This record gives sequence, structure tokens and C-alpha cells, in this order.
Amino acid sequence: MSEPECAGLVPGSGIAQGPFARAEEALLSSLDALGRLEKLDALIGPVQRVVRGLPLGRFRDVLHGLPIGHPLHPALVQVPMGAWLSAAVLDVVPGTRRGARLLVGVGVLTAVPAALAGWVDWAEQHEDQMRTGLVHAVSIAVAVGLYARSWVHRGRGRTARGKMLGFAGLCAAGTGAMLGGHLAYRQAAGANKSEPVPHLLDEGWHPVGRVEDFPVGEAVRRELGEVPLLVVRQAGGSVQVLAGRCSHLSGPLTEGTIADGCVECPWHGSVFRLSDGANIRGPATAPQPSFQVRVDGAGGVEVRLPGAG
Ligand code: FES
Repeated sequence: MSEPECAGLVPGSGIAQGPFARAEEALLSSLDALGRLEKLDALIGPVQRVVRGLPLGRFRDVLHGLPIGHPLHPALVQVPMGAWLSAAVLDVVPGTRRGARLLVGVGVLTAVPAALAGWVDWAEQHEDQMRTGLVHAVSIAVAVGLYARSWVHRGRGRTARGKMLGFAGLCAAGTGAMLGGHLAYRQAAGANKSEPVPHLLDEGWHPVGRVEDFPVGEAVRRELGEVPLLVVRQAGGSVQVLAGRCSHLSGPLTEGTIADGCVECPWHGSVFRLSDGANIRGPATAPQPSFQVRVDGAGGVEVRLPGAG
């Protein structure tokens, strides 16, 4: 006898019926399948090397969004998407040709910094995220190309063709936006992976060992319930404790490099200050949860995370 499977329900909204339900399921499956499309890997390696080799200096961290504490790319894309959507509205309103062309041009120009921020984020992601991200980028590149041609045609008085190209561009941009949403929310690219930490811990003080368990200057892993911790004892005697999984993509900070009061993540090189978890270098844009530490008279080390529980 076969096992019951959710009493005939299908994945998806549960609203669509018949062929629409199957279409909805197929859409979700194909979006998920993009992340497993290994054929894209031949392209991903060379493109990643190019993006990582761009001489951006500390501006790379600005593009990641480190100064604002979350990825910059989703904020920047509001400008071209808003301009293009507004142009589409004007395209169906009589007497607004000049305004529509201006908005199409604004969208093309402002897509450039948005794309640059997206590429630098993309170059530091997991394989499945990079595959989806590559298709997302191609969709947006097609949109930019269509809108650029639309702007040229509109300028030469071929308004009808310009509008057609604009609506085609909007379809491509919409597809890209859907893939961007999948990347951000389904695949969690850009989300702060340390956010759940306070919710996984009980409030109060917890023992993690004795001072002599922690060799000076070395990264030691401890676990507090489900949460791994990075414990480092400094030469001056202080013991510093951060959540052990990197806020960027959960890299193991306990395998990172300890130097100058900081830890560098072994996966993509984000740097966090050990004393307070502050985010010194990207691609991470969120700090690491930092624990208060106390040592009792017998050398027992206890930690407490403010806000836990
Ligand atoms: S997981 Fe990417 S920098 Fe840590």
C-alpha cells in the first residue's frame, strides 16, 4: 500500500486548479532546477574570475552594501525597474512621448551601477545561487539591450517600434526580477545567516569550558545547543566569543584565520572584529553575534548573548 501524500494536495498556492496547478508546479520546479544546472558552471568560473579581478578596492564593500548593513543591489534595482514601469504606463497615455523616452534612458543608465553591485555579490555565492544568478543577469542584460534600442528608436521618431521594444524589455526585466526574488528568498542569497542565532539560544549564562581549554590566539569551536561558537583567548587574558557560522553564507569561522583581533572567514574572506563581532570587510554585510564572557574564580568560562531567548 502506498504512503498517503498530503491527501492529493500539490505543491504551490493551493488556489490554482487543473492545468493551472500543474503550470504552477512546473514553474516552481523549473526555478529550483536552475540552481542544479551544472552546464552553466563552465561559464561561471571565467566570469567569476573577471568580477573578482575588477580593481574596485574598498569600493567593493560599498557595492556589497556593508555601509548600510544589507546588500545594496536590491535597493539600486528599484530605480531602473521604477523608471521602466513608469515608462510603460506613459506609453499608454497620449502626449507623453518625451517623458516616456526620458524614463527609458534613466532606466538604462541606472541599471549599470545596480548590475555592478549584483555582479560583485554574485561572485561570492554558492554554486546553486550563482547558476540562478547567471540566468537572472542574462534576463536583465536582455532587458537593458531592448530598452537601449527602444530609446534609440524613440529618438528617431519611430515611437511605435520604441514602445514595442519597451514592452519586450519589461517582460525580460520582469523575468529577471522574478529570478532575483527566487535568489534572494528561496535560495537566501544576501540574507543574514546569523539572524536566527538569538532565537536558538536560551537567555542567561552558559558554561563553555575552562580558561586553559583555550590556547592563546587559536580558534576553538564550542557548541551551545544547536549554535556553534568561535572562542578565542587573547594574549592579554580576555576570552572573546562570536557565533561560529559566518553571517554571509554560514562559513565556519572556527576554521578561519585569527589575526590582529579579527577573524577572517575561510570561504569568501569576510573579516569580523573578535571583541564585538563588527563587520570589517565584506562580502558579509551583517555583524556576527557577539557574546558577553565572564570567568569565575575557578577559571570556568561562561557566555551570554544579549537578546537571546
Ligand atoms: S561564508 Fe562567505 S565570507 Fe563567510
